[in-house]
Amino acid sequence: MGKCVFSLLIMMLLCPSLIATMVASSSINEKERQALIHSGWWANYRNISDHCHWNGISCNERGSVTAIDGTVLKIPPSKELRRIQNLNFTAFPSLVKLNLYGMDLTGTIPQQITTLTNLTVLDLSINHLHG
Ligand SMILES: *[C@@H]1O[C@H](CO)[C@@H](O)[C@H](O)[C@H]1NC(C)=O
Ligand SMILES: *[C@@H]1O[C@H](CO)[C@@H](O)[C@H](O)[C@H]1NC(C)=O
Ligand SMILES: *[C@@H]1O[C@H](CO)[C@@H](O)[C@H](O)[C@H]1NC(C)=O
Repeated sequence: MGKCVFSLLIMMLLCPSLIATMVASSSINEKERQALIHSGWWANYRNISDHCHWNGISCNERGSVTAIDGTVLKIPPSKELRRIQNLNFTAFPSLVKLNLYGMDLTGTIPQQITTLTNLTVLDLSINHLHG
């Protein structure tokens, strides 16, 4: 135990940037998790602690969400749950693929989608969206 604490101290002295990266990426991951929970679309997966293991979610090696595939979800047809605004897109800086095809979503396509610089695949077809 003492040895571990000592090693950790050495590590913090030698590689503060590594520690900073670890802390930064875990807070991004927590924001991603909160955004997924907030959407209400993954309500059936709360007992699986790692959101990277939820249906339709893929993460990179840093645990940041890279793909969201809503088409595999079974969302109840409630008006509140069907709003595209439920998902806070800006919370996913690493997002590459976003597929919300045929989810029967309503609302305005969020402007924030343009802040996702790595997004290359976007499918919002077969929904009731405008904007
Ligand atoms: C999560 O909970 C549901 C029922 O509440 C259960 O059927 C399912 O097996 C659980 N999943 C895990 C991974 O524990
Ligand atoms: C959306 O996520 C971003 C980044 O995590 C955060 O700054 C912002 O407050 C969130 N917006 C809402 C409405 O939760
Ligand atoms: C965006 O993609 C590039 C190239 O794959 C990668 O190096 C970078 O880390 C990605 N950005 C984020 C925020 O994940």
